[in-house]
Amino acid sequence: MKDSILELLHEQVTMEASASAEYINMASWCETKGYKNAAEFLYTHAKEEREHMLKIMRYINDMGDHAVHPDIQNIGEEYKSLREVFENVLENEENVTESIHEVVSMCLEEADYATFNFMQWYVKEQREEELLAKRALELFDLIGEDGVGLYMIDKEIGKLDKWVEGKVE
Ligand SMILES: [Fe+2]
Ligand SMILES: [Fe+2]
Repeated sequence: MKDSILELLHEQVTMEASASAEYINMASWCETKGYKNAAEFLYTHAKEEREHMLKIMRYINDMGDHAVHPDIQNIGEEYKSLREVFENVLENEENVTESIHEVVSMCLEEADYATFNFMQWYVKEQREEELLAKRALELFDLIGEDGVGLYMIDKEIGKLDKWVEGKVE
């Protein structure tokens, strides 16, 4: 396996680990503010990001290199509002998508079709992740944040994982 690809895969491990850690912090913030459904949604996504990380670590090991859990630095912990949490989710997911696409481009450049194939799962996963974050943000505009708005938004966020199932094929 080419060093250029390995380097990017190790960086991707760090991104997935950071994503998992920050999802936990966002979930914890929501939980303390009474946004119980958003908290569940974000805790679930934290677990998924950990799975994404492990999948790449084990691929790296299968390819003969050695993956280790990265140090996590500079992740958020305080948020101004529920909307800010989901703006943050979208921004983070867009950064992850960009990074995944860089790995895919490098695979084509280096003619590494095995890793190209391995990465397709992530390309699809990112389409789903961005769709979810965009839908969550739409809810703020559709429902509005006044009165019982935030309560309703939180309720709808609790249904998003079901909503997105099977949407991205
Ligand atoms: Fe991920
Ligand atoms: Fe993600």
